[in-house]
Amino acid sequence: MSTAGLEGIVATQSSISSIIDGVLTYRGIDIDELADQASFEEVIYLLWNGELPNSSQLAELRQDLAAHAAIPAEIITLMKSLPENAHPMATLRTAVSVLGLLDPEARNMSLEDNQRKALKTQAKISSIVAAIQRVREGKEILMANPDYGYAENFLYMLTGQKPDQIAVEALDKALVLHADHELNASTFAARVTVATLSDLYSGVVSAIGTLGGPLHGGANEAVMHMLEEIGEVDKVEPYIHQALAEKKKIMGFGHRVYKTGDPRAKHLKEMSKKLTALTGQPKLYDMSIKIHDILEAEKALPPNVDFYSASVYHSLGIQRDLFTPIFAVSRTSGWTAHILEQYANNRLIRPRAEYVGPKKRHYIPIDQR
Ligand code: ACO
Repeated sequence: MSTAGLEGIVATQSSISSIIDGVLTYRGIDIDELADQASFEEVIYLLWNGELPNSSQLAELRQDLAAHAAIPAEIITLMKSLPENAHPMATLRTAVSVLGLLDPEARNMSLEDNQRKALKTQAKISSIVAAIQRVREGKEILMANPDYGYAENFLYMLTGQKPDQIAVEALDKALVLHADHELNASTFAARVTVATLSDLYSGVVSAIGTLGGPLHGGANEAVMHMLEEIGEVDKVEPYIHQALAEKKKIMGFGHRVYKTGDPRAKHLKEMSKKLTALTGQPKLYDMSIKIHDILEAEKALPPNVDFYSASVYHSLGIQRDLFTPIFAVSRTSGWTAHILEQYANNRLIRPRAEYVGPKKRHYIPIDQR
């Protein structure tokens, strides 16, 4: 019996998000409706509480997120001491670990304690990602503006400028689209970690480490790398054909669960078209479309959430190695919702392995080997 990759195995029950017949819902609401109508803060509230917020609940969440956005001075000092070429995902993983280390409540386990830790982590993670960029540019770290929403604050803390509305709306929609995704690898890692009754920060650190690989969230950075390597629309065909002939995976395509298409990709495709045109880089979209056509026609592989998000983030002026950290900023809402759900009905997650190693044998003393 092969259970490689746990494909098709139902490992837990969850009421947070579902993928049924290729349709993704958060708490029962179709991602298409949320992408078109909800703000990221509404989605955070929905994932954590099971219902959409009313106006005063939303206002309170927005206030709380801004109020907790400041990051401890120790983390900034630490960031400044790290090698300049450290990958932002490694810095982010380390910074969230230190966040847990510095939180005197980290190991308190009541529901209220864990909800507060989820709020603090969500509030601070975008400040940490923005600070990673500011530190490596040698610029001052900026505090969140309480008058701005979450996406707007992130872009403001990153660039020091009040972002334009189109950029804010685009990032907000990208955050909505990436917020949760059933039992994806990083969410599973988070749940495994906290199912030992380890603390919430440890769960998020496990999740960040798991998200970073190119088969998962790291694919968005890899897509941008590929687009830059290809460079011109007329080079797409030879590049992709050669990669396929060499049995290389084309980043941003394929999915373990979706076989006929990722419902998030069409939203990002539309955004990519609009933003690359607005920023005078339609070539990026044209190359993407050509890659998409070849993969669909020749491998029947549709794009996943990571493919068009690369050109979207690039059009927002975001550096390539921050793409996956931004995914982490969004997915923190889902990770923490799953961590709270795991604690609420916990059982240690401890599967078995089918042993295929040597038959039982004896230890040989070192002088006889
Ligand atoms: N490019 C080329 N061929 C592919 C790709 C791809 N991107 N994805 C799958 N295939 C092929 C495989 O080579 C394999 O072919 P074979 O049966 O002839 O050997 C077949 O399709 C099945 O692929 P698997 O890798 O077995 O599928 P699995 O479910 O294990 O992997 C995964 C899913 C990891 C997403 C895979 O499609 C992939 O590596 N994609 C590229 C990386 C990527 O975009 N990751 C982001 C996923 S979305 C997310 O995590 C946010």
